[in-house]
This record gives sequence, C-alpha cells and structure tokens, in this order.
Amino acid sequence: MTFTFDVPFTDTRTHADGEPPMTCEIPDPGSYSVLPSIIGTGSGDPYPLYGWLRAHRPLCRDASGVWLASSHALVTRILDDARFSARPPPGTEPLDDPLGYASMVVFQTGEAHERLRRFLGPLFSRKALVSLQAFIDDEVARLVDQCEHLPRFDLVANIASVLPVRTICRLLGFPDAHGASYLEASAGAWQLISGAPMSAAEHALAAMHTEAFLAQVESFMRAIDPHAAPDHAASRFLRLEQEGGIGRREMLVNILFLFIAGYGTTLLSIGNSVAALLREPRAWQALKDDVALVPQAVRELYRYDPAVQSVFRYAWDDVEIDGCRIRRGERVMPLIGSANRDPAVFAAPDEICFEREAGRSLTFGAGPHSCMGLALARMQLESLLRALTRRMPDLRLAPGQQARQQHGSFHGYDRLVVER
Ligand code: HEM
Repeated sequence: MTFTFDVPFTDTRTHADGEPPMTCEIPDPGSYSVLPSIIGTGSGDPYPLYGWLRAHRPLCRDASGVWLASSHALVTRILDDARFSARPPPGTEPLDDPLGYASMVVFQTGEAHERLRRFLGPLFSRKALVSLQAFIDDEVARLVDQCEHLPRFDLVANIASVLPVRTICRLLGFPDAHGASYLEASAGAWQLISGAPMSAAEHALAAMHTEAFLAQVESFMRAIDPHAAPDHAASRFLRLEQEGGIGRREMLVNILFLFIAGYGTTLLSIGNSVAALLREPRAWQALKDDVALVPQAVRELYRYDPAVQSVFRYAWDDVEIDGCRIRRGERVMPLIGSANRDPAVFAAPDEICFEREAGRSLTFGAGPHSCMGLALARMQLESLLRALTRRMPDLRLAPGQQARQQHGSFHGYDRLVVER
C-alpha cells in the first residue's frame, strides 16, 4: 500500500554540538496537526500514518505542540522514564481538575501512586482472578447461548459490552443487577478520559453524568458494612478510608477509574480481536483446529489492534531523546498502536501470527503505570474464543457492517455484526 501524506511536522532537532535547530525540508511547519487522525472521533485507520511516522519522524513535534513517539524503542523508553508523568509538573500548566479526577491511580505520581498500586494489588491477585474464572466462563456460556439461535447478531451489543461490565461489577462487588445502569452512567467519564475532542457543552454534560455515577457509587458504598465482608473490594476501600489512608473523593474516583478501565478497554479489545480474527480465515481456522493456541492467539490479537492506541505524558524535566529536546511541561504522546506494529521488533507486523515469540507488545502499557488488569482482560477474551471456536465455528463478519471508530485514544467497534 502506498501512503502519501503532506509532511505535517515541525522538526526541532538540535545538533549534538548544541547548534541551532537543523533546517529540514518541511514545507509548512506548525500549521498541520495529525492529532485528529490519531485521537479524533472518526473512522480513520491510523496504521498507515504510524508507518510514515516511524519511518520518517519516530519522535517529532506535532503542530499542536504535542510530541509524538512512534517507534517501539521510544514508546518503551518514555513509558519507563520517571521524568515523564501523566500529570503536568508543578508550576507549569495549571492542573484543570475541579472534579478531582487527577487523584485516579493512572494520573498519580511517586509515592502516592505506589501507595495506591499496593492497595489495589490484592484485587488482581492470582487467588482473586482464579475465583473469577468460573464466573467469566459461565457468563460467556450464557451470552453465547443467547446468540446461538440467531443467524446474525451484533457481537458488541450482545457480548462485548456485557461480559466486561459483569466481570468488573463482580470484581468490585457491585450488585450485578446495576451493571447496565452503571454502564450508562459512566459513559461521561469514559468520554472525559478518552482525550477525544469535546465542546465545552459536551464536557460539562460528561462531567455532570460522571458526578451522577459517583453519587450512585457512593450510595452503594454507604450501604456496605466494611467489617461484614472483609475481602469485598468496597470493604477494603472503606477500611482504608476509616484509617485515614484515602479521602472519600479519592476513593470514589479510583473506583470509577477501575470501573471504566475494566470494562471500556476490554469491550473494545474484544471487538477489535474478533474482527481481526474473522478477517483472517487462516488464523480463525488454526484456532478452531487447535484450541490450545488460544492464549497465544489472545496475546497476538491484543498486539495487533490495541484498544488503547496512545497515552499522554508530561516531561517533568528538560529531556534529550533521539536528538530532540523535550522541554519541561511539554506533552508527549507514546503511540502504543504504532509501537506494536514496529517492524524493528515484530517481523511482518501487519500480519497476525500466533507463533510470534519475539517482541514485547505494549498493549497494556509499560513502566510504573502498566495495566493492573492485564490478566483479567486476557481471561475474558480467552474464555470467549474457546466458546466461539467450539459453538460457532462458522462465524463470519457480515459484509459491510463494520466501522472501526476512534474515541480519542480508544479505538474500536461500536457495532460488529456477525453471521453464521
Ligand atoms: C484489553 C483491555 C485493557 C487494555 C488494552 C488496557 C490498557 C491499559 C494501558 C495502556 C494502561 C496504561 C495507561 C498509562 O500508562 O497511562 C492501563 C492502565 C491501567 N489499567 Fe488497563 N487495560 C485493559 C484492561 C484493564 C482491566 C480489565 C482493568 C481492571 C480493572 C484495568 C485496570 C488498569 C489500571 C488500574 C491501570 C492504571 C495502572 C497505574 O496507573 O498504575 N485495565 N491499562
């Protein structure tokens, strides 16, 4: 495929000897931002652009002022580097956070971040996950039962958007019956965290819905006796609050984060993975022939088209990388989706290959903020693929029914119609 693209970047590389920025052949520096192609709201395919960036400007400053890192090496390095944080450094851009969302674990830094991770760790312990396996398998069986008699159904509406919500409610101890209403109520928070462009009115509405969701969570928490069910996730939060280890607002926004991180990403990942698999008949056949391939298939499908395509970081110091000087307070966007297709790390990266051994997928991030729910997300897709290969072996995509959407940093299918 040939990809032509107007060169849209400012190049602020400096010579190693500290001379002024190199002149480069960029026709229109600073006037063209590619951010809308990467974290927009349309149905654009970002992979050709990533390929161009990796080949020509693996680290470059977009006209919006945001640095884009597209190679695997750079994305890994930035995610691992403590000089980059998910929140701006003190004294630079004032933190616009009237609602206190910055106390979510993903935006925390240093000791506060480590403390929260330590506290959340037991929710994702091996023991906790093993106890969820039977629940997930039962849910998958129930959802597949409901679709089995249908000649055609929307896999997102019927399976991908139900399983992760039920799973995360179970993990957090939320009443199952409230899953659908929590899902609806948390849509605003999902929008806010996605980085998708929003008008002031949309922003205000999303914030209002988020507050309503937090109020629901709070009323649920109030009804819990933290000593009656000590292992219950909500009880652990409440005990920590009573001991003075967490404030009420911090507790609520972290529960909110777990909820949206737990369902939204998994929902999109299931759709992306099933779509990719059904588009590749050889891979789908291989899985049906040998179900033991499921765990490695899940790893590869998650690499191939990750739901979280990018994350944001701020430089806390002036940092020199790859001949570029990123100044304190500037924003950097490690492009996970691009890193996962870097040919320097993955041979034939645009192909699905279950036998891949080399290369570390960055789908779940890297460094101090790497995903805590990785195993849980894998368990859900593994369980679903086992069920689909066995019970719906003739499954295929319905022609012309799929549009992969960008919701800011999150990419995936709002609808995935399949037929048999
Ligand atoms: C396939 C599904 C999932 C994907 C693609 C995914 C992806 C990610 C990524 C890329 C990050 C790093 C964010 C950053 O560095 O800024 C992250 C963090 C996180 N994820 Fe996931 N995630 C998934 C499922 C889950 C699930 C099921 C949970 C469970 C509730 C979860 C909980 C978290 C938490 C708590 C963090 C924050 C860790 C921290 O800041 O220290 N994720 N996830």
